[in-house]
Amino acid sequence: MTPGCLELDDLDPTRVTRILEHAQHWKEQPSTLPRVLEGFGVAALFQKPSARTRSSVEMAVATLGGHPIYIRPEEVDLDVREPVEDVARTLASYVRIISARVFSHHTLERMAAAVDVPVVNLLSDAGHPVQALADLLTLRERFGSVEGRRLAYVGDGNNVAASLAFAAAMSGLELVVASPPGYELDQQVVDRARNLGAVVDLVSDPYDAVRGADAVYTDTWTSMGQEQERELRLRAFDGWTIDAALMKLGAPDAVFMHCLPAHRGEEVAAEVIDGPQSVVWEQTENRMHSVRALFVELVEAP
Ligand code: CP
Ligand code: NVA
Repeated sequence: MTPGCLELDDLDPTRVTRILEHAQHWKEQPSTLPRVLEGFGVAALFQKPSARTRSSVEMAVATLGGHPIYIRPEEVDLDVREPVEDVARTLASYVRIISARVFSHHTLERMAAAVDVPVVNLLSDAGHPVQALADLLTLRERFGSVEGRRLAYVGDGNNVAASLAFAAAMSGLELVVASPPGYELDQQVVDRARNLGAVVDLVSDPYDAVRGADAVYTDTWTSMGQEQERELRLRAFDGWTIDAALMKLGAPDAVFMHCLPAHRGEEVAAEVIDGPQSVVWEQTENRMHSVRALFVELVEAP
């Protein structure tokens, strides 16, 4: 097993800083990109849909000189056609990095245990670390440094919120999470992030979270795989929409963030996500720059 990135705490603060600095540098000066994947492949296996992740990974690999192999779920049919471990071993004999979007985080752990190439989490039920890297890059671009900046995450304590807690641990960003009862961020995630030095506060009122915050973040109330809970969740999150009135409580230069896909009128009002405080398109663009720098880090400094 080679260290990859199942969650951001598989890296360390020095490596995360280096990834973000490289991402910024190569974004500004693409002609200096190292073609470290020349002659190599990167597998990108998806059990769930994607607009941003698949495309950003493919372009990251291509611009590093490598060949991305996109694998549809029905093609390999994990644990039905053959065991996860056998799929991972097969891919590892062709590619330099395996990346995957899966339902169960345990699938990624099984892949990582079976192979000696890095495995990268492109979203699981537990986390979305490549999104959190792009979010850190977006905040650095906006504020210069994220150290001591306060990010209020309002909504479901889901995979995206979990990776933001580890992003806090790796960067000095302060996180406050507000969720309705029953949808809080997992206590084990909070403890793990705090043990790594993160400031993570949990509150039950979105107004308490957003007051004075430098960034306000939300995500869908119904994640991929939870579609049968949608009606229940719509009721549980009633009143939790981020609207202009809530945004007004943030710092005067506060930004609005969302990993996308977004549901206007549910977790966020159109006036906010399409308004002047929104940085969602910077986040989207930064997905490619940050995952590219992550791949370079995993290949050059494993
Ligand atoms: N934010 C994100 O991961 O988007 P996709 O699901 O479209 O890849
Ligand atoms: N929490 C969402 C994120 C989508 C990018 C999901 O898992 O569906």
